[in-house]
Amino acid sequence: MGGPVKLLIVGAGSRGGGFAGYAAKYPGRAVVVGVAEPREFYRNRLAEAHRIPEANVFDDWQPAAERERFADAAVIATPDAVHAGPAVALAKKGYHMLLEKPMATNEEDCRRIAAAAIDNGIIFAVGHVLRYTVYTQQLKSIVDSGAIGEAVCIQHLEPVGYWHQAHSFVRGNWGNEARSSFMLMAKSCHDLDWLRYIMGVRCLRVSSFGSLCHFRKEHKPEGAGDRCLDCPVEPDCAYSARKIYLGRVAAGHTGWPVDILTPDVTVEGVTEALRAGPYGRCVYECDNDVVDHQVVNMEFEGGRTATFTMTAFTEAGGRKTRIFGTRGQIEGDGREIRVFDFLTDRAQTVDTEAGDASIPGGHGGGDHRLMSSFISAVANNDPEMILSGAAETLETHLMVFAAERARREGTVVQVPE
Ligand SMILES: NC(=O)c1ccc[n+]([C@@H]2O[C@H](COP(=O)([O-])OP(=O)(O)OC[C@H]3O[C@@H](n4cnc5c(N)ncnc54)[C@H](O)[C@@H]3O)[C@@H](O)[C@H]2O)c1
Repeated sequence: MGGPVKLLIVGAGSRGGGFAGYAAKYPGRAVVVGVAEPREFYRNRLAEAHRIPEANVFDDWQPAAERERFADAAVIATPDAVHAGPAVALAKKGYHMLLEKPMATNEEDCRRIAAAAIDNGIIFAVGHVLRYTVYTQQLKSIVDSGAIGEAVCIQHLEPVGYWHQAHSFVRGNWGNEARSSFMLMAKSCHDLDWLRYIMGVRCLRVSSFGSLCHFRKEHKPEGAGDRCLDCPVEPDCAYSARKIYLGRVAAGHTGWPVDILTPDVTVEGVTEALRAGPYGRCVYECDNDVVDHQVVNMEFEGGRTATFTMTAFTEAGGRKTRIFGTRGQIEGDGREIRVFDFLTDRAQTVDTEAGDASIPGGHGGGDHRLMSSFISAVANNDPEMILSGAAETLETHLMVFAAERARREGTVVQVPE
């Protein structure tokens, strides 16, 4: 293919805007030629920044999908519940596709999307950014090299972080299952996908426990208000929106998560958003129903096992992993990898950040490397550059659905083929 890859951005919010930013930074590799976004401010901002012709600016994905294909690829970054519609329609039009995770919020839609991607022969990637980081690639190559013998079991922690839980999964877009999806899908589909990637074999069966333990009305402190700005006990609350957002603005930090509240990231703009918007609500007075902690046990082919813990009740930080092999063990924190060898009783540490400090972008460089791999795959018509394609991503989403069913039903669930 000659010239930059032409992109249609579907959903110009936080993620869609971020992926479009790649084209602004690397104009020789990608160019944004269309946008579909219902929110006027975000639609216009992206259209103006990329000088998109008016005919290619839409207020919904549907009219964009009705047009003849006018771009090489679509980036779908709509809310979780609005993935299947645009993904299937645009795959049928022959758009290559970068679809944000989760693929969809129910099993049937995930299968429909995977089938549409495969049947239409498009290059298809899901936003499982963790696979693409330098850290993951190094970790996987150590495991695959046999340095710790056979990896028999893995212990993996996702420390969501107390304020991130409050922001995204209590007050924010992913707090209510009917509006988005269950927590394990919304947040931890990354982790189950990652565990399967590192193990290198299929997960056969799962069990799970978890609940919404803390962010409930009955835990509201006595005398607390419904909004943090006029709450008398706010100074003593770890989840205070005043602390989480205005505290960051005062420290000069106006990027994520502050910019999710309002495009006006001044003290006045954020105060107004806290007064009237969802992010100023008391965490004990929201319509959230997703779990705030969950564990999953997994059995993989060959009798190998993994345990996973997701919890809100941590300092936000990188995921922590221990991999136990027949000849050694590995500990990783998203940056450093420590490999201990049973034969020599010695440990070696690799600092993956130092190995590649130039990578910009979120998720330890995963966002950038996913987008870069996707653009290269489209430009060279080479699906091999994609680490999160249709078949394997469907497989790991089926793991997530099975684990959630196990939690709800209190049973051990087989992961379907
Ligand atoms: N890969 C990751 O690590 C990661 C991180 C965060 C979010 N996500 C996923 O990315 C997706 C987007 O999340 P976000 O944080 O950007 O949310 P967001 O709310 O900032 O953006 C979503 C955008 O989609 C738009 N939209 C809604 N309905 C639409 C329609 N019918 N047609 C076109 N656009 C429509 C919304 O107006 C909004 O601007 C979600 O599925 C989310 O789960 C992935």
